[in-house]
Amino acid sequence: MGGKKKIGLIGGGQIGGNLALLSVQKQLGDVVLYDIPAADGLVKGKALDINQLAAVDGYDCRVTGTTDWKDVAGSDVVIITAGMPRKPGMTREDLLEVNLKIMKDVAANIKAHCPNAFVINVANPLDAMVYALFKITGFRKNQVVGMAGVLDTARFKFFVAEALNVSMRDIEALVLGGHGDDMVPLLRHSTVGGVPLTQMLPKEKLDAIVDRTRKGGGELVALYKTGSAYFGPAASAIAMAESFVFDRKRVLPGAAFLEGQYGINGFFMGVPLQIGAGGVEKIIELELDAAEKAEMQKSFTSVKKTVDEVKL
Ligand code: APR
Repeated sequence: MGGKKKIGLIGGGQIGGNLALLSVQKQLGDVVLYDIPAADGLVKGKALDINQLAAVDGYDCRVTGTTDWKDVAGSDVVIITAGMPRKPGMTREDLLEVNLKIMKDVAANIKAHCPNAFVINVANPLDAMVYALFKITGFRKNQVVGMAGVLDTARFKFFVAEALNVSMRDIEALVLGGHGDDMVPLLRHSTVGGVPLTQMLPKEKLDAIVDRTRKGGGELVALYKTGSAYFGPAASAIAMAESFVFDRKRVLPGAAFLEGQYGINGFFMGVPLQIGAGGVEKIIELELDAAEKAEMQKSFTSVKKTVDEVKL
């Protein structure tokens, strides 16, 4: 019989704590919040605090804070947020060296302790980290995904909703490509209540929204000063985990291992994909026009440059 799922959260910092909270609130399963020994009090405190919150609202999922990988063993879903966030003035690529070192440790442990998990990476630089994760674990391609597109699309939707004063529910949009400043918001494929977005806003407004979306992570780094965004990233990774846990088969943008789709072979980059009980069940290949193709290639060039620096 099924029973509750086990959600392994690697990294108990800002995003990790919010992932634990949302997992309980959405009743995805019992949560294990893992961090390094120096953060033992942090993860145990967050676990206790959230378990007490769960009593207020009567949630049946529990959180355990741990620094022992044995407690993470057998997780059905693993979400990785272990790693340094950006500080003002840094690019995501500046995190490569320090976060790759952490990913090597984390990926080896996931391979050893959670061989059957669906693994969602959130650590940056996103597309290079998920590549390293995939190579180190040797997991199946449908078992490993990177979270960026859901967040980038959410940012885009919010800016459109603000500009038009419409409900965010009625906005359909898609941001593809790498999780960097040359990500690809697809205006031609965005609608508001079914009406093409390009009919709703003048070009200058749209260009400004695209620009703000591309720099959306940096805008928050500049405001927070000590780290990067965490509420939006946590909610975005949870949307992906939820589609897996409940076999929702949602179509979401995410970084998947590409084998020729969009002209890319052997790398991860943001594309529309379907997530269900089988993990990444499908990659959807959208017909792009020449300009969109060129933007995807430009974004891929940046992704590849970072991945080429990944030495495993
Ligand atoms: N194993 C597990 N956890 C680790 C390890 C490791 N080897 N090394 C570091 N950590 C933990 C830190 O102790 C810290 O608690 O990862 C946590 C990261 O938390 P924050 O510093 O609060 O960072 P956060 O905002 O959550 O972002 C994490 O996600 O979006 C990306 O760019 C962001 O790479 C960053 C990551």
